[in-house]
Amino acid sequence: MNAPHTLRLPRPDDAHVHLRDGAAMAHAAAATAAQFGRAVVMPNLRPPIRTTAEALDYRARIVGALPPGHAFEPWMTLYLTDDSDPAEMIRAKASACVAGVKLYPAGATTHSDAGVRGLRALDDVLAAMAEVELPLLVHGEVVDPDVDVFDREVAFLGRELGPLLARHPRLRVVLEHVTSEAGVRFVEQARPGVAATLTAHHLLLDRNAMFQGGLRPHLYCLPLLKRSSDRRALVAAAVSGSPRFFLGTDSAPHAEGAKLAACGCAGCYTAPVALQLYAEAFDAAGALDRLPDFASRFAAEFYGWLPSRDEVVLERGATPVPEQLPFGDSLVVPFRAGGEVGWRWIG
Ligand code: NCD
Ligand code: ZN
Repeated sequence: MNAPHTLRLPRPDDAHVHLRDGAAMAHAAAATAAQFGRAVVMPNLRPPIRTTAEALDYRARIVGALPPGHAFEPWMTLYLTDDSDPAEMIRAKASACVAGVKLYPAGATTHSDAGVRGLRALDDVLAAMAEVELPLLVHGEVVDPDVDVFDREVAFLGRELGPLLARHPRLRVVLEHVTSEAGVRFVEQARPGVAATLTAHHLLLDRNAMFQGGLRPHLYCLPLLKRSSDRRALVAAAVSGSPRFFLGTDSAPHAEGAKLAACGCAGCYTAPVALQLYAEAFDAAGALDRLPDFASRFAAEFYGWLPSRDEVVLERGATPVPEQLPFGDSLVVPFRAGGEVGWRWIG
C-alpha cells in the first residue's frame, strides 16, 4: 500500500453538524468553518428552529459570528414537529437556504423533546417535502424503553424507516450518523434517493472505548458507539466509493460541566480535528484515495451544490489536541483531548 505524506482534496463539506447558539456558537462555527466549505446545520436549539424565518435568522447569526471574509456557507434545517405544516416546507425550499428537515423522534436525543410523536400523522408534510425535493434527515432511533439502547437504530429501520420509504417513494432521505451494520445494509439496499452520513468517531471507535479503564463521558454520543463488527461495516461503507455514504461529523459540543454530570449530555466535539480524524480512519483502511469523494463530493451531489472550489491540504504527522477549548463563557473538551491526531492541517 502506498502511504502518501501529503493529502490534497477539494474543500470538504460537513453534512451534519451542531453549531449551537449564543456565545458558544462563535467557537463551534469557527472550528467548522476553518475546515469545511459548507455544512448542514442541525436545528435542535432551545427552542428549536421550526420555520424558514427562524432558520434564516439563525443563519444570519452564524455568519455574523464568523471572522469577516469567511467563505463558509451554512445550510439550514428545520426541526420537524407534530405541528409542522406543508406550506412551511414549500417556503423552506423556496428560501434556497434550507437543505432539509430533521426528524427527531421525541426523546431520542439532546433537545428532542419537541420532536415527533406521531410520524404517520405527518404524511401530508412529508408528501409536500417529496414534491419540492426537500430531503428528510433522520435521527434513526426508536424511543421505546423496551428496546435495548444499542438496538434502537436497528429497530427504527424496520418499524419506521422501511414503512416511511414505502409510503413516500419519492422522498429523499438521509439516515443521519448511521452506526450499525444493519443500518449500512439498509441504506445500500434502499431505493434511489436514500443516503447516510457517517461520523468520524463511529468510524474510529467501538463501544468498548466508552468504558476503557473507566467511564469515558466524552465518548458518550447518540446513537451510541456500537460493536466492532458494526464499526467495520461503517468503515467498509465509507471507503466503498458509494455516493450513498458521505461525511457528516455530528460534531456536538457541550460545555464541560454538562458532560461531567450525574446525567451527562450526549455528543462528541470532533469539529476542531474533523478531517484529520476521517483521514486516520481511511488511512487505517488503506483507502486514503477514497477520502476526497466521501468528504468533498458525495454530499454536494446529494444536495445539489456546486463542486467545491478550493483545496485543502493535510500532511502526515502527529498534532496534539488541546485538553480543553473555549466555548462561550465556558470550556469544551474536544474529541481526543490531550492526545494527538495523525495528520497536520496545512490549510
Ligand atoms: C447531539 C446534540 O448534542 O445535539 N448529540 C449527539 O450525541 N449526537 C444530538 C444528536 O445528533 O443526536
Ligand atoms: Zn446530530
